[in-house]
Amino acid sequence: MKAQLEAMRKTAEEKIAASKNRDDLESLRIAYLGKKGELTAILKQMGSLSADERPKMGQLANEVRSAIEKKITEFAEKYKEAEKRERLALETIDVTMPGKDMTEGHKHPLSIVLDEVKDIFIGMGFQIATGPEVELDYYNFEALNIPKGHPARDTQDTFYITENVLLRTQTSPMQIRYMEQHKPPIRILAPGRVFRSDAADATHSPLFHQIEGLVVDKGITMGDLKACLETLAKGLFGESTRIRLRPHHFPFTEPSCEVDVSCFRCGGTGCSMCKGEGWIEILGAGMVHPQVLRNGGIDPEVYSGFAFGVGLERIVLSRFRIDDIRLLYENDVRFLSQF
Ligand code: DAH
Repeated sequence: MKAQLEAMRKTAEEKIAASKNRDDLESLRIAYLGKKGELTAILKQMGSLSADERPKMGQLANEVRSAIEKKITEFAEKYKEAEKRERLALETIDVTMPGKDMTEGHKHPLSIVLDEVKDIFIGMGFQIATGPEVELDYYNFEALNIPKGHPARDTQDTFYITENVLLRTQTSPMQIRYMEQHKPPIRILAPGRVFRSDAADATHSPLFHQIEGLVVDKGITMGDLKACLETLAKGLFGESTRIRLRPHHFPFTEPSCEVDVSCFRCGGTGCSMCKGEGWIEILGAGMVHPQVLRNGGIDPEVYSGFAFGVGLERIVLSRFRIDDIRLLYENDVRFLSQF
């Protein structure tokens, strides 16, 4: 039996040395050390040995087993190393190859102008506020002095979700929402999407953007409004820009006005851009109506304020001389890459 064990060890070691890879090693391990392997077969004869020979053979069998195991592990390590070297050689990157071209993206024209407007107002100490696009009738209309049946509702073709829930038609509801949550002094800019059930054409889109402004404090006057809007106009269209306030009506401001900027193309003499007027209308504004202050929880006997609402698209279209509003939403890269 001793001779058998030693012979087995010798052939096993020779075969391991002659193996080519880890699969070969695994087959050898099974053939020699596996449950149905050669070693087990030899050990089955243990029963026929004498009592003092048995432990000696047991010990020898263990030695043979660990010798074969050691040899297998040794070769397995060797093959693993070789496989790794081969893989690394395959993965080598040629750092001298030219790289792939990267096209750099940039801001959408709406974002370019919105960011400019934000910067101008942040410079005057305004906070940026945001609110829901799905709005309650109360905030969008009721609290802004536009009760049910008011003619101002007809001019804002509203997408209703239920009788009292709608897609906001203006950013003005942010005035009430902000006043409910904050005490004066208030200085906010609230930009966002608004929705009106208009058919899309060159100048209309069912989704567009407004920028709402609200200032409430003690002693705020129309003069403050004018100075503030002048800063906006000069910041957007250049230092030589003038503004003009025309009387108007909005239910939530009293008095109300529409604000024009002198045409930044012709400087006011009249051209095709301003349709010969010399002026371009950019926003609506006014002194916050006392009832609107009250609806926001603010005492109109103590505080006063002004508000304004800018149509972002209108400014973008004139600034960049874009003649169709739909171009702003189609996201055709051939168009967008021009800005
Ligand atoms: N919300 C008005 C609109 O959509 C615009 C507006 C006018 C907002 C006057 C104001 C304002 O805050 O004072 O037509």
